[in-house]
Order: sequence, then C-alpha cells, then structure tokens
Amino acid sequence: MSDPQAASTEARASVDHPIRPAAVELKNVTKIYGQGTPREYVAISDVTLTIPDIADHGEISSFLGPSGCGKSTVLRLVAGLEPQHPPTSGTVTVLGREIVGPGADRGMVFQDYTSFDNRTVLDNVVFGLECRGVSRQERESEGLEWIAKVGLDPRRDRAKYPHELSGGMRQRVAIARTLILRPRVILMDEPFGALDPATRLDMQDLLVKLWREVQATVLFVTHSVEEAVYLGDRVFVMATTPGRIAEEIRMPAAAGPARGVQSEPWFHEQVNAIHARIEQVEAAAKHKNGVSHQI
Ligand SMILES: Nc1ncnc2c1ncn2[C@@H]1O[C@H](COP(=O)(O)OP(=O)(O)O)[C@@H](O)[C@H]1O
Ligand SMILES: [Mg+2]
Repeated sequence: MSDPQAASTEARASVDHPIRPAAVELKNVTKIYGQGTPREYVAISDVTLTIPDIADHGEISSFLGPSGCGKSTVLRLVAGLEPQHPPTSGTVTVLGREIVGPGADRGMVFQDYTSFDNRTVLDNVVFGLECRGVSRQERESEGLEWIAKVGLDPRRDRAKYPHELSGGMRQRVAIARTLILRPRVILMDEPFGALDPATRLDMQDLLVKLWREVQATVLFVTHSVEEAVYLGDRVFVMATTPGRIAEEIRMPAAAGPARGVQSEPWFHEQVNAIHARIEQVEAAAKHKNGVSHQI
C-alpha cells in the first residue's frame, strides 16, 4: 500500500532538489574588499541569481551596469579567482558544486589580451591541453581545428606571435584557447570592449556560432546595451553602491546574424527600454546616496 505521507515528502524533496542543478547560482553573495581595514569597501551586496542549466542548449546571460558596480567581481567569484574568491558571505555554486577555486568546468576570456607573448598562436591555443598532458600530435590537430573554428587561417596564422595579430585576431585566439578545453561555463569580461564596431559585430556572430556548437552556459559582461540584448537570453542590470542586481530581464532569442538583427525595429525597442530602465536605476541610486549623504 502506498504511504501518502511518504509520497508527499518525496514530492517536496524533488522540488527542493531538482534533478538538474543550476548552471550557476549565487545565493546572498556579499563581497567586502579590505574588510576590517580603513579601505573596507562593499563591492557587491546580497547578490542572488540563478542561471538554469538547459539540457543540450545552455544560455547566454549578459551583465550590464555602470563601471564599479561589481560585474567583474561577480564573474571572478564564479571563476574562483582571488581576491574576489571567496565571498565574504553567501554561496556560489556551479552545476550544484560550491566553488572552492578555479576549475576545468569554467573558462574565462578577458578584455585584455591574455595570450603569452612568447608563444605562437598554435602554442597559445593548445596551452591548456599541454597542461593536461595531451600528446603533442593530438593537441596540434585539435589546436589547428580550433584555429579554423574561430576564423583564423591554420596554415598562415599558426606560427604568428601575438604582437603580429590585430585586436580581433587576438580575441579569436583567446576564445579558441578557452573553448578547446570544453568548459561547461564560459565567463567573458568585456571581451569585445576594445574592438572597433565592425569587428565587434563579427565577434558577436562568431560567439553565437561557437556557443551553439559547444552548448555551454555563458556569462557575458558588456558596456554595450546592443551587445547585451543581441547575445543575452537574459540580461542582468546591475546598480552600484553597493553593487547589486537591479533587474533580470528575459530576452527573445535573436535569430540571425548581428548586423541584420540589430537593425530590426523590435531590437531597437528592446535596447531603448533597457536604456530607460538603466537611467531609472541610476537616478534611484543617486537619489538614495544623495539622501544618505545629507543625513
Ligand atoms: N581587489 C580589489 N580590492 C579593492 N577593491 C576592489 C578590488 N577589485 C574591485 N574593487 C572595487 O570594487 C568595486 C567593483 O569592482 P568591479 O567588480 O571591478 O566592477 P566592474 O567590473 O563593474 O567595473 C569597484 O569600486 C572597485 O574599485
Ligand atoms: Mg570590470
């Protein structure tokens, strides 16, 4: 005979512990730099967010917000990089596991070119495989495959050094050396921020193409509302002093190349709506801080 009490406990348990843990989850995360010193600073306060792990798909989440609102702090906490990691309070989990440091399940692409100056394109791209002890032959064939996937020429570009590459080419190398390791979560901190507008659109197209292939969860920090709307399945709008999530907005999936989509009317409407929302958030923060200064 079935036990109704046991059945209801089981039902509750399955709600409390969904079978598929979130790709990324922050619960009440606060980060105070220099705690207990005269330079103590609350960078982010009580940040809670959940990015689901969607089977065979993955999502791109954009993070928008004024300089200093804690975007890099959030990304580096997820990456497990010091001094952002560990949080002062709260928990950061990736695929159900609490972060204890950097790990192979996460890869990061920064705005600053992070390739090794003394390594060729190929040696930069396969660096992580080398660290993992993959044989030279295997890593070379995979490396050349990834050089082609990011739109570089395996024959012409493999032996170039970073100083021989344009900004866009360097970011292609950075993307290849991160994705070759097949991280489930990709953390991108203003990766296209230093590129000219045309190259930036090309890189957005490249990211969408590769993201479809690797089906990873992407956290993407940008200053560009257009970029956030085009790439994001959801957009987190952050506010400052202290850094926090002001709003989470779901976005329709952008179907098609960046240049086409970004000239469509619905796209401009979304961008304008988010600009308006950011202005509201910033005005509210100014008002609040102004009032608190007067007290
Ligand atoms: N290592 C650090 N030590 C002290 N303060 C820091 C450190 N890193 C960042 N901050 C401060 O924390 C705040 C948030 O920084 P950050 O996460 O880099 O913001 P964003 O990426 O949104 O510009 C800023 O005021 C910044 O000056
Ligand atoms: Mg930053």
